This record gives sequence, structure tokens and C-alpha cells, in this order.
Amino acid sequence: MTSAVQIVRVADGQAVPYEIQIGAGLLSRAAELIATALGDLPRSVHIVSDTTLAPLYAPAVRESLESAGAKVFLHTIPLGESEKSWQRLEALTDAILANGIERSDALIALGGGVVGDITGLAGALLLRGVSVVQVPTSVLAQVDSSVGGKTAIDTRHGKNLIGAFYSPRLVLCDLSVLSSLPVRELRCGFAEIIKYGLAFDADFFAWLEDKAAILSNPKDSAFAEVLGVAVQKSCQHKARIVADDARDTTGKRALLNLGHTFAHALETTLGHDSQALKHGEAVGLGLVLAARLSESLGMAQAIAEPVMRLNQRLGLPVALSDIGLDASHHDKIVQAMRYDKKTAGGEIHFVLLQAIGQAVFPCTAEQQAVREVLA
Ligand code: GLY
Repeated sequence: MTSAVQIVRVADGQAVPYEIQIGAGLLSRAAELIATALGDLPRSVHIVSDTTLAPLYAPAVRESLESAGAKVFLHTIPLGESEKSWQRLEALTDAILANGIERSDALIALGGGVVGDITGLAGALLLRGVSVVQVPTSVLAQVDSSVGGKTAIDTRHGKNLIGAFYSPRLVLCDLSVLSSLPVRELRCGFAEIIKYGLAFDADFFAWLEDKAAILSNPKDSAFAEVLGVAVQKSCQHKARIVADDARDTTGKRALLNLGHTFAHALETTLGHDSQALKHGEAVGLGLVLAARLSESLGMAQAIAEPVMRLNQRLGLPVALSDIGLDASHHDKIVQAMRYDKKTAGGEIHFVLLQAIGQAVFPCTAEQQAVREVLA
């Protein structure tokens, strides 16, 4: 794996511009990189991770920070979307306050999207804002959730309904951690990577088609390098979009939700912590359904087939039957879409496609057209 570190800068106008650093072996350089980004090494650092990932990755981060002189506290939360709750947020902030925290201290979110979301929100709230460093350990978190400052918890009224825009001070994407990810986790990240090509960049989509054989085989000698390039390219797209529309108000940032209206409805239908369907798999299938709906509305031609082919090559679902759903679930899926955050004035607003690389928002579709693409 290349030891070079690639840097993507995020200037979203909301906070101090920050860097996404992408490279191998960054966990063990955490102290040096954090000190450079923050101007000094914080006196105390609170690492938040989950019970599965903490034993794997927290020791390297702790060792780096402690040997540079920082006091380190480790807070672990159980794995799962259900942890993005008021109760967990209260317990986490309470534990951090009990340990003691000052404005110049920092939180590190070491894990996937759930850890990133709840730690980011805790960072926004504690002492009215302390520095947050995102250290995403899944492909999905590296290319999407760790960048752009969206933080949130879920409530009984829906996902991500309580939150804040709160930018991290630094994002460290350590590529070394990706080589030990289970294949299913890797695939979930591929769905978000395909999304960037499909929504914004036909050349990147074609590059992914070209590299699919390598990406689908973690034992390939070029795997780590190709995945590193895919992560970097995806982060560049995310950084550009976030800089254009940090607060998600102009419709540009909404383009990042290509495939997500379908995905969230599929997840609601199967249950958000369902082992039968992971978020990335739902996004992968959502991309196919968005491409098919774009075609059936006459907005685009011949786009669904390439998306299905790429999904198949990267091990992602292409039809409802691949995730154990059938026609008896169509009503529930359409109903779930009505509660999507992009629904406005009772109409479902989709991100759809004019071509590969050209996403558009908002688009509306009759229920019947949506039902047809589910079939
Ligand atoms: N994950 C979508 C966004 O950051 O806006």
C-alpha cells in the first residue's frame, strides 16, 4: 500500500476549513496530525468508539496520544443504529463531563457512521462546542458520513431528526483499516462510491467499471491502491458539494442522497438494525431503482443496465428479490417513502438522473411509476 498521504481540503464556510487526510498508518500518527490541525495537542482527548472496534483500533490511537503527553479517556458504546438515541447521548456526554473536559480538549470519533454521528453531536453540545476529529473506520464512513458536519441522533419520529451541522477539525481516513474489513462491509462502502460516479462524474463511473474486478477481490495486489484512489475521489466530490451547500438548503447537497429515498424505505420495511439488509446494500439497490425510475419517466436512457452490472460485479443487490422482498411489500415501501425528509407538501422528492454523472433534484413521480420500478 502506498504510504503517501493525500489531502482533500473542505472549506464549507461554516467553520474553520479542515483537511481530510487519506493514507495508510494514520491511526498511529494521530497525536502529530491532531496537534498540527488544532494548533496544539489537547490536554485531554476523549476517544468514542464501539465495543467491536475499540479493541482493534483504540490502542494505536491511545498510544500515539499518550506518548505525546495527552490524557486519554476511552468511551465505548454498543454497535448499532439504535445507539443513536437521547439515552446514549445523555450517557456519553455525562461520562465525558464526569471525566472532565475543557474547551481546548477534543473528542475523537473512532468508528463507523453511528459513532461519527453521536460523537459529532456530543462535540457540538459539550461546553457549546469542543473540537471533534473524525477517524472513520469503514469505507462508508470515510467517503460520506465523516465529512460535511452532519451530526444527529434518531427519535421515535424518525432517523436523524435531532442534530446539528458541526464540522470536524480533521478527518483521518486510515486506509490500513480497510483491508481487514469483512467483505460485506466493503460492499456497503462501494455503494456510496458508485453513487459519486453516478451522480456527478461519468469518468469516475467508467473508472469504477474498469477497476471492478480489482475492487471485488481484496486479495488482488492492486486492491489497496485502487480502493485508496476511490476513497480520495469520493472525498473530493463530497468536499466540493459540502462547500457549495453546507447547510443543505439549495438542493446541491441533496444530490448526495441519490438512491437514498428508496434505500431508507427499504430499511424501514425490513427494520433499521436488520441483518438482512445493511445501509450500503440498501443504497446500492436504491441506485438501481433511481436509475430505473429516471428511465421510466423519460429523463434518461440506458443507465439502469450499467448500474445493475456494476452492482453485480461489486456484490451489491440489483432487485428486491435479492434482499428477500417481493410484491407483498410494495405498499409498505411506498408508504415509507412518504415519510422521507425530502417529502414536501405531501409529494415525494427524488434525486434522479439525466445521464450517468448528472443527478437532478427535486424530481417527482406518480406512485404508479414508483410501483412499476419496484416490480
Ligand atoms: N450524507 C449526505 C450528506 O452529507 O449530506
